[in-house]
Amino acid sequence: MRKDIAVPKSELDSARKAAERINNNLSGRKPAYFIETYGCQMNEHDSEKIAGILESCGYVPSESKAGANIIFFNTCCVRDHAEKKVFGNIGALKKAKDEDPSLIIGVCGCMMQQKAVADKLFKRFPYLDMVFGTNELHMLPNLLEKVLEGERVELVRDMEGEIAEGLPVKRVEGVSQFVTIMYGCNNFCSYCIVPYVRGRERSRSVKSIVAEVEALSQEGAKEITLLGQNVNSYYSEDENADFPALLRAVCKVEGIERVRFMTSHPKDLSDELIRVMAEESKACHHIHLPVQSGSDRILKLMNRHYDRKKYLSIVEKLNSTVPDAELTTDIIVGFPGETEEDFEQTLELVKEVGYSAAYTFKYSPRAGTKAAEMPDQIPDDVKKDRLKRLNDVVAEGLKRGNDKYIGKEGVVLVEGCDRRGEPMAFGKLPSFKMVYFPGDESLIGTMQNVRITGTAKNSLMGELI
Ligand code: 5AD
Ligand code: SF4
Repeated sequence: MRKDIAVPKSELDSARKAAERINNNLSGRKPAYFIETYGCQMNEHDSEKIAGILESCGYVPSESKAGANIIFFNTCCVRDHAEKKVFGNIGALKKAKDEDPSLIIGVCGCMMQQKAVADKLFKRFPYLDMVFGTNELHMLPNLLEKVLEGERVELVRDMEGEIAEGLPVKRVEGVSQFVTIMYGCNNFCSYCIVPYVRGRERSRSVKSIVAEVEALSQEGAKEITLLGQNVNSYYSEDENADFPALLRAVCKVEGIERVRFMTSHPKDLSDELIRVMAEESKACHHIHLPVQSGSDRILKLMNRHYDRKKYLSIVEKLNSTVPDAELTTDIIVGFPGETEEDFEQTLELVKEVGYSAAYTFKYSPRAGTKAAEMPDQIPDDVKKDRLKRLNDVVAEGLKRGNDKYIGKEGVVLVEGCDRRGEPMAFGKLPSFKMVYFPGDESLIGTMQNVRITGTAKNSLMGELI
């Protein structure tokens, strides 16, 4: 059962007072923070919460590490050999810390949920002030206060069922905003570390999500992306609401023009969701539907709970119900035991589906996952070669897909303006396609009718109608 928790105002006040003390050493200048974020949008959004909390405690953003009084690294451990990088980053700050012992250095995020890594880091660098996990954000004021009083703190906990609500958030400005609807993952795909570091699935209430979207709408947001590792298994028990119900509720929020969501696991994608996409005019015609592999044998080893036939039948249903829908995906090459034949089945599937973007990765063993222990690990040069061949096939499909838009018209929600040459406004169609067209900053946040006149590598070119 979900239990909502919040940051007590008294803790924010107390941390603010502690932070004010360092003002004295800064001749009245406000203390500044810098956050370096690795990984996915969930991590980016966590960093926005850390920034929100720090600003509530009186800190201001710093452009660089050099001008900062507090530096955080928000880490990821999903794919890269990021551990080395984090140890390198902390090592590189030794000189700065020697010169200014009041500098606070903290490390947080998914990698710290691996207790052994957190311990190792905390021991290796005696000048590292704080280490905390993904479940401790609401305790940051409290931890910060302790650090300001001279303590070193390490806090990493597993958390079942608890959700921190109402944390202050410092959002990157813009018409398009992210809202996390659930945390954790129950799927245990055999290659993936996420269920170990982010814990079991827990869904926020429809009520809190809608309240957050309403507040964002009042601040000028026009597009919302609902975020979760597997949004299709969203379920708010006390409200008896599943993901399609949540999507309908968010689409009703006044002022919001578009609602996106990611990521969808194919095993849980329901007909009802496809129906909502077709019926609700604000629901975007895009699904990020990671396939991971086109080979049934590998999908089974990956513990994905669908086969190629089931995946293609979802794609077919989507195409026939929402004809202009765009699909994006994630694919892993070089999973243990993947033969050339398995890999070719992936290439065939990519050709058949025609993705408008595919995030492609070389398999990278994560300690503690099943796949890391599997026989027949694939040599790196084979992975590299497969990745290149896959990316070539993805690019061909993307080009074919883009060409289909030429001469068509659509509505773009303008997100920004690129001024590197002639001012070009840019934004997305209801599908995921990004369009650039002549226009300036005055168009940001508006919906514009455009005609597509050409294509670039990853986007479309257009003109105002
Ligand atoms: N190696 C390579 N790619 C991975 N992903 C997750 N774990 C691994 C791993 N161990 C990819 C998957 C997932 C995306 C977020 O990251 O494709 O969908
Ligand atoms: Fe990882 Fe699979 Fe969960 Fe996605 S669905 S986060 S790949 S375990």
